[in-house]
Amino acid sequence: MAEYRLAVLASGNGSNLQALIDKVHLTGLARISIVISDRSKAPALARAEHASIPCRLLTPLPAEGGKSYHRRVASVLATAAPDLIVLAGYLRLLPAEFLALAPPVINVHPSLLPAFTGLDAPAQALAAGVKISGCTVHLVDGGMDTGPIICQRALPVLAADTPDSLHARIKKLEHQALIEVVSAFARGRVAISGRKVEIQEEG
Ligand code: GRF
Repeated sequence: MAEYRLAVLASGNGSNLQALIDKVHLTGLARISIVISDRSKAPALARAEHASIPCRLLTPLPAEGGKSYHRRVASVLATAAPDLIVLAGYLRLLPAEFLALAPPVINVHPSLLPAFTGLDAPAQALAAGVKISGCTVHLVDGGMDTGPIICQRALPVLAADTPDSLHARIKKLEHQALIEVVSAFARGRVAISGRKVEIQEEG
């Protein structure tokens, strides 16, 4: 069977990238063929380097718009020929022209979407007083965390939670959910029909 290839875009710490390195890349389920970051200080880059995964820092030029920047991202991605692009803490919106030419793109978000899109989702959840929170892995459709939902994991919000403590617990769920979804894509077990996405059981 042909090797399933992933590209990961990450702007920050890269704990989700690390989960993919440990449980998907190093286990041979799929190969991370490139990691791209828009931030020079992103620890995600060091994580990729440490695992000997090709990585590129692509810093946006001063006053460069998202379309132009993502044309440069697309040309680097073209050489890696990914089957799936994973946004793992990537802080930029992908333009429609990028998505039109890309393979499926998925994102991981620290809330139970459609609640609490955008930045600081755990803080938004606490401010709203919700009792249950969690994470969502979804297809990217050009909106801000609006694409079809693939997988969600939930946890109770604790009375003593701060945005950081809640986010830290959610991240553990993110890692599990992302591994499950990427593994399902690599095995050809994801069925997409409009906004309905199903992970099909094996066998
Ligand atoms: C995660 O909470 C993810 O849901 C959000 O950004 C954070 C990235 O964390 N989109 P990390 O860089 O993977 O540790």
